[in-house]
Amino acid sequence: MLPHRLAGRLTDVASTLQHGADMGAVPVSTQGSAPLPQAAPARLKVFPPTFVWGAATAAYQIEGAVDEDGRGTSIWDTFSHTPGKVLDGDNGDVACDHYHRWRDDLAILRDLGVGAYRFSIAWPRIVPTGTGAINAAGLDWYERLVDALLEHGIQPWATLYHWDLPQPLEDAGGWPAPTTADAFAYYAEVVGKRIGDRVQAWSTLNEPWCSAFLGYYHGVHAPGRQDLRLALAASHTLLLAHGRAIEVLRSTSPGARLGIVLNPAQLEAASEDEADVAAVRRLDGFLNRWFLDPVYGRGYPADMLEIYGDRFTQPPDQELRAIATPIDFLGVNYYGPNIVRGDPTDEFLGTGSVRRAEDPVTQMDWIVRPEGLTELLLRLQRDYPVGSMAVTENGAAYKDPPAVDGRVHDPERMHYVEGHVAAVGRAIAAGAPVMGYFVWSLLDNFEWAEGYSKRFGVVAVDYATQRRTLKDSGRRYRELIAAASQLSS
Ligand code: FCB
Repeated sequence: MLPHRLAGRLTDVASTLQHGADMGAVPVSTQGSAPLPQAAPARLKVFPPTFVWGAATAAYQIEGAVDEDGRGTSIWDTFSHTPGKVLDGDNGDVACDHYHRWRDDLAILRDLGVGAYRFSIAWPRIVPTGTGAINAAGLDWYERLVDALLEHGIQPWATLYHWDLPQPLEDAGGWPAPTTADAFAYYAEVVGKRIGDRVQAWSTLNEPWCSAFLGYYHGVHAPGRQDLRLALAASHTLLLAHGRAIEVLRSTSPGARLGIVLNPAQLEAASEDEADVAAVRRLDGFLNRWFLDPVYGRGYPADMLEIYGDRFTQPPDQELRAIATPIDFLGVNYYGPNIVRGDPTDEFLGTGSVRRAEDPVTQMDWIVRPEGLTELLLRLQRDYPVGSMAVTENGAAYKDPPAVDGRVHDPERMHYVEGHVAAVGRAIAAGAPVMGYFVWSLLDNFEWAEGYSKRFGVVAVDYATQRRTLKDSGRRYRELIAAASQLSS
């Protein structure tokens, strides 16, 4: 069984970090005259005038400043400081130093012309020990960010949980413990009361599948535990926390759109063999339906309950109802499809994944197939009452050349972004209610277990100097946004 995020663990990780030697970069460079290669024809007319073009980041991946202004410790601080957990021993202590440089980064957002910025709030900056005392300095910092975004006409899209659980909550049982949902509802209330009147769109959780299963079953993400029972319990607490936070935000943030961000997998059978088709169904249960079904009021899928047996206890109806508290949008993170086959040697679900020679892959070893995004969005619309969707993350890691004369040529990422924007356009043309697209990521950043070895930014970060350089992909994204807004004006 190989969800795509695990694939990168197996690839060549000796990629060179391209920082240090580059003296040519200037902060937020828009210099350089060489024209970009011609744009692929994107059917921009199909995007409605209200379509939100954005860029996304997450707190632990960019902020740094882990000991400042009363921030508590999160499970990612602990995990990344545990030898052997993160490639090259990297951690988020400094990251992109965004905590101090956020004004420069806001200038980059303005330069790109995005209409929205998706960021996450670090729970340990707000409630440092997970329960009880509130850290005013943390709230102040996010309030400043939100106000500055609004001042510049950029919609703040905030995520409450992008994987940085306060360590004291992990020590008290972590996501498998039901009390963590209470702590999350409290945190949501604190933040909602402070900036709920200004945030335009709230996501409760980012990719709860990763929090539950990479964190508590595969053990490759914080907190690094490996027990299926714990992972299943964690997935339920996460969903409950989501539902409870939606209830809270509905009252503190009545004007905002509320949703959850999932990473629904686009699964394709390696062949028409019954074994491969059945493997897709099981993996769909594990990765997708286990989250989508309860969020949309169907409870946990029966086939998965049967597979999990006594390793998961069916929760009371009242909790299922809380999970199904109505939301306004589904956030969809998409990077590439998974090609699935039946694999009797896999003891968990009897599934494996296939790499075909003809499939292009990124540096993460993730398959590039923009059509998969069109198909995924249409499938979600067909199978669930999604109301509205936003592509909340989409992007690619490649080995970029160093910045020279204020330019970073990253043709593969540029084509990736163009191709996927076009794929969103095709989904809209076919009737999918997609209201926004957020490139992952604004900046190169701390890529979890891969450390700084994988660069996803449309803006390069030289970690030695913290200089930012707009990559060609960022320039192309800026052109796309400008062209789309011209068409709709
Ligand atoms: C997603 C995460 C995001 C980033 C991208 C590459 O799974 O939500 O933080 O790491 O992958």
